[in-house]
Amino acid sequence: MDKVWKEYEELRSENNLTYSQKQRCYFASTKEDADFFFRSENMTVDYPFRSTRQVFGKTMLDSDDEKFTATKKIIGSYFSVKAVKHYEEYFLNRIISQVLSEALGDGQKEIDVEKSISNRIPVLAILAIYGIDASWETFTFERLYTLIRYIDNPLNSLEIANKCRLDIYDLLEQCMDGRISVNPSGMLARLDLSAFENRDDLLSTLTMVLTAGMATTIASFNSLMVNLYSNSGHALENSNNEKWIREFVDQTLRDFPPLHSTVRFVRSPFVYKNKPLKKNDTVTIVMASANKDEGKKPAGNFSFGKGKHACLGIQLAQSELILFLKQFLRHLHLYTVNAHIDDPMSGHSIKTFSNLRLIPVEHAKSDF
Ligand code: HEM
Repeated sequence: MDKVWKEYEELRSENNLTYSQKQRCYFASTKEDADFFFRSENMTVDYPFRSTRQVFGKTMLDSDDEKFTATKKIIGSYFSVKAVKHYEEYFLNRIISQVLSEALGDGQKEIDVEKSISNRIPVLAILAIYGIDASWETFTFERLYTLIRYIDNPLNSLEIANKCRLDIYDLLEQCMDGRISVNPSGMLARLDLSAFENRDDLLSTLTMVLTAGMATTIASFNSLMVNLYSNSGHALENSNNEKWIREFVDQTLRDFPPLHSTVRFVRSPFVYKNKPLKKNDTVTIVMASANKDEGKKPAGNFSFGKGKHACLGIQLAQSELILFLKQFLRHLHLYTVNAHIDDPMSGHSIKTFSNLRLIPVEHAKSDF
């Protein structure tokens, strides 16, 4: 991992849009450049060869078509601050405490963090939002996981990814036509279908939203755990400090962004910092680097993107992590974790700490 951060530092120190012959793209690595390219009307997300486009076809994620403004508004209303507050009260807190108590058990066993915690909370949360019964957890997780493996690295099989996509389409269709009963207050039962052109548009959007939130939030849970044990002194002192908890989650997301970068394409030629950009040139926006930029402006965290394609699930992801942290801090002192923040991370475009284990303190002592 060290190498990557050093490369970002070098990119930033050039303080100009750097072109890489090898990767055939420009790099926007400072806060100023990242903010500019996220918001510029001269840039677009539309690009036929993006891996998301290969599996889902055109969705709001990788198209600037006008019609997706309405889609994002409708879907976005289920992920607003107000909606997420409601979810916290009705099921998020309960899901998290259930997952945590199943994971920790009697406190004697080593815990596979990803399998028992990180993989479970985001899937159970999104199923509850859609109104799908929790018994679909494993089915959904396995399909989404395969889809993500393809999106993260298109060298993985597109054919298998497509099979998984169709399995999810089938589940969603059965939920919407009454063959599988859903919660009448959930999103699937209440969704305004007028913004969707046809069945495929609806199913691909719903599946893309399921997928978009999963691996990113899983990676954040893993990073939160590692960061927590690397700062366990402060964490124990602040276990009832709401402000500290929120800031710690924000800092974790800023320092360990699940997505280090994303891409934009030049829509029409223009000049930026003396660089003539041509139509279809690629600009890689490196959020992980922008977050480390010590320049004051523009303020904020780039981990969720900016501008009109900014993450739709930011409130949900933050809420899951904050609620989890509040509950887990009570158990923090009972465990250690087998990783440190300086350890290398795995993943192609989604970066995560892998093979994490929580080890009961008594066991950890006897190992030495
Ligand atoms: C910590 C967790 C998450 C991170 C770090 C994250 C990060 C991002 C980023 C960087 C983008 C912008 C990509 C770009 O501009 O090219 C994005 C877009 C998106 N995210 Fe998230 N995300 C997270 C969780 C979620 C969740 C929980 C959901 C939904 C349930 C979600 C749904 C979406 C959608 C639908 C988009 C596309 C928005 C658009 O293009 O209009 N994300 N996310």
